[in-house]
Amino acid sequence: MRQSAVVAALLGAGSAFAAATCSLTKKCPKESPCCSQYGECGVGAYCLGGCDPRMSFSLDSCTPEPVCKSKTMTFDSKLSTIADISDYLGDPSTAEWMAQGEPAYYNGNVLLTMPKNSVGTVLATTEYMWYGNVKAKFKTSRGRGVVTAFILLSDVKDEIDYEFVGVDLETAQTNWYFQGIPDYNNSGNITLSDTFNNYHTYEINWTPDMIQWLVDGKVGRTVYRKDHWNATSNQWSFPQTPARVQISIWPGGLASNAQGTIDWAGGEIDWNAPDIQKSGYFYATFESVTVECYKASKGPGSGSGTSYTYDNIAGTNDTVVVGNKRTNLASLEGTGTDMDAGKPDDSSSSDKGSSGSDNSGSSGGSSSGGSSGGSSGGSAPADTSGCSTTSFNQDCSSNSDSGDSKSGNKNAGSKAGVSALAMGLAGAALCLV
Ligand SMILES: *[C@@H]1O[C@H](CO)[C@@H](O)[C@H](O)[C@H]1NC(C)=O
Ligand SMILES: *[C@@H]1O[C@H](CO)[C@@H](O)[C@H](O)[C@H]1NC(C)=O
Ligand SMILES: *[C@@H]1O[C@H](CO)[C@@H](O)[C@H](O)[C@H]1NC(C)=O
Ligand SMILES: *[C@@H]1O[C@H](CO)[C@@H](O)[C@H](O)[C@H]1NC(C)=O
Repeated sequence: MRQSAVVAALLGAGSAFAAATCSLTKKCPKESPCCSQYGECGVGAYCLGGCDPRMSFSLDSCTPEPVCKSKTMTFDSKLSTIADISDYLGDPSTAEWMAQGEPAYYNGNVLLTMPKNSVGTVLATTEYMWYGNVKAKFKTSRGRGVVTAFILLSDVKDEIDYEFVGVDLETAQTNWYFQGIPDYNNSGNITLSDTFNNYHTYEINWTPDMIQWLVDGKVGRTVYRKDHWNATSNQWSFPQTPARVQISIWPGGLASNAQGTIDWAGGEIDWNAPDIQKSGYFYATFESVTVECYKASKGPGSGSGTSYTYDNIAGTNDTVVVGNKRTNLASLEGTGTDMDAGKPDDSSSSDKGSSGSDNSGSSGGSSSGGSSGGSSGGSAPADTSGCSTTSFNQDCSSNSDSGDSKSGNKNAGSKAGVSALAMGLAGAALCLV
């Protein structure tokens, strides 16, 4: 929730192109039909994970969502399972995660990094979980204003969260939202030992009837659907739609954020904190993430089919359709209603798209150099401060160029220009402030 608002504001401020914004009352226009997780209209990456069908031009503007597959996700030195959003086209067999920002490999973990003056790093699964169990083993970041998150987020913004603020390393804050509607009564804390220095296994067990948060196998909190009937809207105010797992580090304490967010995050970020001086970035250390899909025989959470789509703007459980629709675009100019737009003439490479390994190879390259940085558990890899060692083309001093080289210098305003923005998005997310 908070993160969406923060990142949307940042992207808006830093974009070279004036992207249309979108909301429930303001859908995207036909030429840039897809409303991204951050409330901006576009094509390509905007139509993939996070695209909100309720705010998009039509219900089928977003691409179909790939269904859940049970798996344990770990990280290799090339981060070959992670695709940057500027390379990912929607085929989950090419990547387990899509990334914005700067993931780095370190000692069998992925570090989610937040270099000086950046907005951090987000990894989201390429497949969606419709109920089930997800466990993540990780160490949080630290420092005032620095937030680590492990959440489930659906495209209609049902959300189940763990969040950690870097000034309180003994509390896991838990929260949930139905369709992104703020209700601060939904939060609850779990107390545990030093989250920066210790790995813990954080778990979300989600069924149609309840949500449980477990830490190291012990139930810390349970909420029940039966306690959340909304008589006004005549529906359950409870997470009920397919969700991506997202892990992130982000700057709650950015000086330009709302004061409430800064206070919640423990104050303004100190960009000269010891982690920045020593490593060049704040970081959270993720060892593994395990998804177990919900094993329903039919309907919600069933394993039949390859795609989830919505057939009604209500965005409730009964509007999710399990089907066998194609989920991938031919290029970053595509949309849910024109999936082959921009298909390269050389069709041999179009369907699989540029796989995650291309990009994350270079991403891993920049970071695996860092793994020589130290062998003691607490020390982080070498300096990657600023924007000098990123996995995609970008230049902090002229952020407006982000992505242009990949888009072939297409103009803003055209459909292709918007896809250039989609590619620039990750760059913008990193280098903007
Ligand atoms: C939160 O709880 C308070 C106190 O129980 C109640 O007055 C308020 O209506 C609740 N807010 C929502 C949005 O349910
Ligand atoms: C959780 O802990 C934070 C401090 O870390 C505190 O500000 C917040 O009020 C607590 N929330 C609840 C629901 O107790
Ligand atoms: C119940 O639904 C109404 C109407 O949609 C909404 O305004 C209100 O915030 C909802 N209450 C809760 C607790 O979600
Ligand atoms: C939606 O959720 C409600 C409450 O769990 C359940 O009774 C109903 O069967 C669900 N509908 C569908 C189509 O899954």
